[in-house]
This record gives sequence, structure tokens and C-alpha cells, in this order.
Amino acid sequence: MTEATKQVDSALVVLVDKSDASTIRQSLTTMKLIDDNFVIKEVNSAIAIPILDAEKVKKSTWFDNTKHEINELNLLIKNQKYTPAEQISQDMTLYLKQYFDSDLSGLIANLPQKWELFGDLAIIPNPAMNNSQWQDLFELITQEQEQEIWQIIAQALRVERLARQDKIATDMMRTSQVKMLLGNSGEVEINDFGVKFWLDVTKVMFSSGNVTERHRIGNIDMSGEIIVDAFAGIGYYTLPMLVRSNAQHVYACEINPNSIKALQNGAKLNNVEKRLTILEGDNLSTMQQVYSLADRVHLGILPSSKKTWQSAINCLKPSGGKLHIHMNVEEEKIEDFVTYCSDSIAKLAKQLGREGIVSVEHVEKVKWYAPRIRHIVIDISVK
Ligand SMILES: C[S@@+](CC[C@H](N)C(=O)[O-])C[C@H]1O[C@@H](n2cnc3c(N)ncnc32)[C@H](O)[C@@H]1O
Repeated sequence: MTEATKQVDSALVVLVDKSDASTIRQSLTTMKLIDDNFVIKEVNSAIAIPILDAEKVKKSTWFDNTKHEINELNLLIKNQKYTPAEQISQDMTLYLKQYFDSDLSGLIANLPQKWELFGDLAIIPNPAMNNSQWQDLFELITQEQEQEIWQIIAQALRVERLARQDKIATDMMRTSQVKMLLGNSGEVEINDFGVKFWLDVTKVMFSSGNVTERHRIGNIDMSGEIIVDAFAGIGYYTLPMLVRSNAQHVYACEINPNSIKALQNGAKLNNVEKRLTILEGDNLSTMQQVYSLADRVHLGILPSSKKTWQSAINCLKPSGGKLHIHMNVEEEKIEDFVTYCSDSIAKLAKQLGREGIVSVEHVEKVKWYAPRIRHIVIDISVK
């Protein structure tokens, strides 16, 4: 513990029996009477809960003069220097000690150490609070107590809602496997570099790993351009192209109704609905509606977008345009793959009656997808 974390000060507390502490704490939280500047303390067989207003506490329906005592006590000051993970560990230990005399180490060791934040909603990873000790505990306790446990995590992370990531779905629709733990709705709004996204985290995944590529694409000036986004999802690239790149119009292909709903809501939030047409269904057929229209086609699918290369070339204007081709490639094979990709596009373009003049303008290494495997984007111009 650092010096700063040892600081104590006199606090107004209500002393309650261990067995009542959790219900009373819940009631005080609801009434907004807990003094969050202090850490709850165990005093012999009682629990000292820091409070803001003695008179209001005395008027609570549960308050009983013969059982409860209001007093001043030296308590640890909740210190900003605690990391949220330390805060979770500290608050959870105190909470669990109310109920169990046994060894808590297995539970404490399995508390979340990392999480993803989406506004007031945090998603903890699948293994956290999911070992056999936690599973046994959740079998034993009431639903109210389970909610109190999630509340402790949420408070330490300063969020209102909590969810857990189950296995990541590998299906083509990127179905989400997130389950709500605290709060009912998984609907969130994300503001990323001036672009607003909307999604229901229980229904679709958000690819936070592609942030640099979203920014790069958003930095390209697309004024006056017609774009086809062949794998639009919730609008990871569609929305930055409309909002930041100033594209004239984006035709967004998407097959998953949940992603389509998210994209529609995202477009409304950014006020760009009029410059967006969503082509619902399998892009191999929907792209046919926009043949010869586009200045640029975005192929944002992993591990490979190869199945759509021919349709993408067909979508380009007769004068040509640009393709952004996403692929997963082994690090040492990137150069060979770029050559293969550009040769294949040139060949396909010729077969489709174009000149077949291609040039690779840029290769972006987005992120490591797996050991030795890179997610890359090849920007290629085609005539
Ligand atoms: C990886 S996600 C979103 C991709 C986003 N461009 C990115 O890289 O973050 C791919 C999206 O393509 C959609 N998709 C997959 N196959 C499709 C197809 N054949 N036609 C239309 N949409 C498809 C999925 O539903 C999913 O929303």
C-alpha cells in the first residue's frame, strides 16, 4: 500500500450488524446516503458504513435505535490512487467477509483485471468471476446478493451497467455473445473521433481493434465520391466516410438485421441518413444493384475478402476507382501477397472488359490478428 492509500479521517458512520449490512448498504445506496469518500470498515462483529446525513438515516424504515448506532470513526479515505482493479478487490473483500469466514483467495484472484468500456456500460472478459468458486457462490446466494456483487464492480468502474463477454462468435455475422449482468439494455452510443456509433452489445460486436484504420479511412478526402462498403457492419467505415471523409453517398451492404438497425441509428445520430443507402442481404447479389457507380469500394472482411473482388471491380465506374482490400496475411508473406493481389485484380479487371491497369497505393498494417498473422489493408487503384 502506498502512503497515500493509508490516509484516514473522521467519518460519520452507521454501525450495523454484519448480517444486515448488505441490505442496509443497498438501501443507503438507493437513498444516496452513502459517503463515497470513505471505505466501509469491519469493526468487531459490526460493519461501519460511512453516511452523509445522520438525521435522514435515523428516519429510514430499517433504522432501529436498539440495534444500530450512529457514530464518528476513523475510516480509510477512498483514494484516487487506487486503480479500479484495486478498488474492486478491496470492496469485494469487505463485502464477501460479511458472509464468509472461509478463505476468499480463490474468489479474489478471479476478479476482473481488464474490461471494455462503452459509455456507462463495462464488459468484463469471460474468465473473470467465472471460476468454480464463483460459480458455487452464485448457486448459493440470492438474486439480490448477486446484483449487489455486480453493483460493487460497476461502482468501482464508475459505470451503471455491466456485462460479460462469453465466447467470441466466429460466424460471418459477428454475432455478439455478451450477456448483461447489471442493467437490462445493452444499447450504447460510442463517440469515436467525431463519429457516433450505436449498437446493442448483446447483439453485435464492436471491433475496437480497428480504431487506427477507422481514423485513417476517415482522414481521406472523399468529397464528391460514391462509395460501396461491401461489409458495412454497424458502420465502422461507412460512418467515418460519410462524416469525416465527406463522401457524397455510401451504398452499405449488410446481411445482419441487428447490424442494419445499428447502422440506421448511427446514421441518424450523425445526421447522414440522406447520403446513405443500405443494401440489405448477401453482397454477392446486392452489389449488382450498384455496378459501374462507385469511385471507391471498401472490402472490410476477415480473414479474406477474395470472394467479392470480382463484384467490387464491377462496382467501380468505367473510368476506374479505388479498392480497400482487407486480408489476414502471415507477416513474412505480406509482400508476396500484395503482388498476388495486384496481379489477380489486374487479371480480373481485364476479364471484365477493363484496361486492367492497377497500382498499389498503400499497404496498411492494421493490427496483429494472431501470432505472426497481420490484418492488412491494401489500397489499390484500378482502371
Ligand atoms: C467484420 S464485420 C464489420 C466489418 C467492419 N467493416 C470492420 O472491419 O470492422 C463484417 C460485417 O459483414 C457482414 N457480412 C458478412 N458477410 C456478408 C455478406 N455476404 N453480405 C453482406 N454482409 C456480410 C457481417 O454481417 C458483418 O456485419
